[in-house]
Amino acid sequence: MLSYRHAFHAGNHADVLKHAVQSLILEALSIKDKGFSYIDTHAGAGGYALDHEWTQKKSEYLGGIAPLWQQRQQWPQLAGYFAAIEAMNGGEQLDFYPGSPKVAEYFQRPQDSLTLMELHHNEVELLRENMAPQGRRSGRSKGPTIHHRDGFEGLIALLPPTPKRGLVLIDPPYELKEDYQTLATTLAKAYKRWPIGIYAIWYPLLAKNVDRSGALKTAIANSGFQDILCAELSVSEQAQDFGMYGSGMMILNPPWKLDEQLSELLPRLTKALAQDQAADWSLRWLKGQA
Ligand SMILES: C[S@@+](CC[C@H](N)C(=O)[O-])C[C@H]1O[C@@H](n2cnc3c(N)ncnc32)[C@H](O)[C@@H]1O
Repeated sequence: MLSYRHAFHAGNHADVLKHAVQSLILEALSIKDKGFSYIDTHAGAGGYALDHEWTQKKSEYLGGIAPLWQQRQQWPQLAGYFAAIEAMNGGEQLDFYPGSPKVAEYFQRPQDSLTLMELHHNEVELLRENMAPQGRRSGRSKGPTIHHRDGFEGLIALLPPTPKRGLVLIDPPYELKEDYQTLATTLAKAYKRWPIGIYAIWYPLLAKNVDRSGALKTAIANSGFQDILCAELSVSEQAQDFGMYGSGMMILNPPWKLDEQLSELLPRLTKALAQDQAADWSLRWLKGQA
């Protein structure tokens, strides 16, 4: 049974890292006029009201997007990400936070195609509402294709996509231990069908006794892809038994210069989001362009 609801975590430090990287990749894909495909395997609800009782429960956005929003003029390299947030809010006030589908919608042009998958029946209904035509930024772009289905299995069925260049965002909740293994085997299959796609994979950095990020990186390094960039940002000290102290993004076939952009961005983001002295970042090529 699926119990994870992203509204409890919307706009937290992990969302900031994930959506900042997603925005930089979509910006890079938008440089050429040629259309791109965007596939979101674990789409969630699409967008989140920050005053919703679930989001308010722990108000994780107060340690994520909220402090950055106040100083957004000082982050020109994240202008696209902030513009996607602004498009949902329409003013100074930060009332809504875009999920990955709304971030992608912001960058979509008429020639681009968006496919969103979500397995939870309530979340997929919210996703349909949030991505409905009246909520879309541009009437010129076609609406997304939304599938109520398993995103791992769905991804393989959809590859290779048309247009043939683009980004797959893979953002599982990791509430099932099998998610780690399924992710690695899915990527090995994806490589056979669409080796030239860009894949961005979010993963949590957890307490020592439960962290699986090391094994995940090893498995993905063996999936067939030759260029794998790995960006991690921790906001606090790693505990022994419980809790997420940071997160990472693995980018397979990253666009040109993403490593340079992230090497400038990560130290500043870490400083802005730090919860204690142990906050840290790393950026390295897991495979390829060292
Ligand atoms: C971390 S949330 C996604 C957040 C979203 N990507 C964003 O950045 O706004 C993970 C979502 O995956 C959904 N989910 C869990 N298992 C899934 C599966 N096998 N296929 C598709 N969706 C799944 C959950 O219901 C949840 O909404």
